[in-house]
Formats: sequence, C-alpha cells, structure tokens
Amino acid sequence: MIIAPSVLTADLADLGAACKEAVAAGLDWLHLDVMDGNFVPNLTFGPPVIAKLRQALGDGPVFDAHLMIENAEESFQQYIDAGCNHISVHVEAVRHLHRCVTAIRAAGASVGVVLNPGTSVDAALEVLSEIDLVLVMSVNPGFGGQSFISTVENKVRTLAKAISQQVENGGREVQIQIDGGVKAHNIAMLHEWGARNCVVGSGLFNQTSSVADNLAVIHQALE
Ligand code: DX5
Ligand code: ZN
Repeated sequence: MIIAPSVLTADLADLGAACKEAVAAGLDWLHLDVMDGNFVPNLTFGPPVIAKLRQALGDGPVFDAHLMIENAEESFQQYIDAGCNHISVHVEAVRHLHRCVTAIRAAGASVGVVLNPGTSVDAALEVLSEIDLVLVMSVNPGFGGQSFISTVENKVRTLAKAISQQVENGGREVQIQIDGGVKAHNIAMLHEWGARNCVVGSGLFNQTSSVADNLAVIHQALE
C-alpha cells in the first residue's frame, strides 16, 4: 500500500521542511492538493510553489498533483513543467475528459481521474483503459481533517472488479487511490476494498506526534 502524505495539513508556513520530514520518514509519493478557490472553497498553492518544492527535494519523490481547479484541461502542462510526475483531474471539472487524460499522458505524466463522493464511477470506467489511477474521494474536497465517508465502498469495489477484468484481458493496471479521512483505524479496510494507494493528511501531519511515529502506527494497522 502506497501511503501518500497530503501536505495540505502540514505547516504551510514551512512546507519544504514538512515535505523533507515526510521523505525522511520513507514516504516518496507526495500528494499535492492544488486548490483554486473556485472548484473548491479553498485556495492553496500552484506551479511556482511546486517548482520550489521540487528544487528543495530533488528528483526522488513522486509529485502527485491533485488538481481541484476549474481549468485543469488548459493548465496541466504548468504542473508537469513545475516537476509533477502524476496529474489527477476531477471528472466534475473537465469538459472533455477523454481528450484531457490522453493529453496528460502524451505530455509524459501519469494520469488519474478523481471522483467526488457524490459522483458515480461511470466516467472513470469510460476512460479506464487510458489512465493509471482512479482517485476516489472519501471526503468532499477542499479541506484536511474531515471524517471518512464510508458510502464510497461500492464505488471502490466496482472499480477493483473492472480493473482486474481489464488486466485479465491484457489491459493496463490502474491504481485505486483513496483520499480523505484515512487513518490507522480504517486503512486496512480500504486495502481489503481494493485500494493500493492511500492519501493521508492529518493522520500524518498533526500536533500530537511526528510523521514517523504516525506512519509507524499506520504500518502496524496494515500488518
Ligand atoms: C481534500 C484533499 C485531501 C486531504 C486529506 O480536498 O484532497 O488530500 O488533504 O487530508 P485528511 O487525510 O486529513 O482527510
Ligand atoms: Zn487530495
């Protein structure tokens, strides 16, 4: 199971140090929550900050950009240029999804589609052969520290079945990533559902313990 720290709940006044702490704890898939204040009611950071983080962290870690923005179709190249390896776009925010995901792959990044809790799995199934990852939101996007929405279980299981079908027919493997409210107490359940990548924000970055200590508890829960 890939544990992808979401830096949204880290100390944004010292974002580079927070990312370095995560990498030092052995986390090499960083989840960057890009928000534009339009698609979601919060605004975080964009390409200039991401480029600085890439400079500070070197080429090692995967930069996974979760684009909670209205104009992902027009602006995804800026995130690739800033150093992102992976781009996930919301099906709710992209008008021409098939064209967008194929363009992101053609630009050299791996690509994911994101489904909000209220969005059906159908759009992801339509492009399943063109993508590398499906990000199933288990909170409504915009903020860290929210509680897990367990009604997404069916969506995850449906995706897991469709992906194994696709692989059986010689098609591409697709990772299921779950994002929002993931903690030590529920992560083993998500693995059983079929998730192989979990974003963890406040479960890793919080006032009570260090990233390394929080990660140890999460690893224990997965044993
Ligand atoms: C919410 C973001 C999530 C969030 C996860 O819009 O996409 O990545 O930061 O934070 P926790 O794990 O605290 O729910
Ligand atoms: Zn996210």
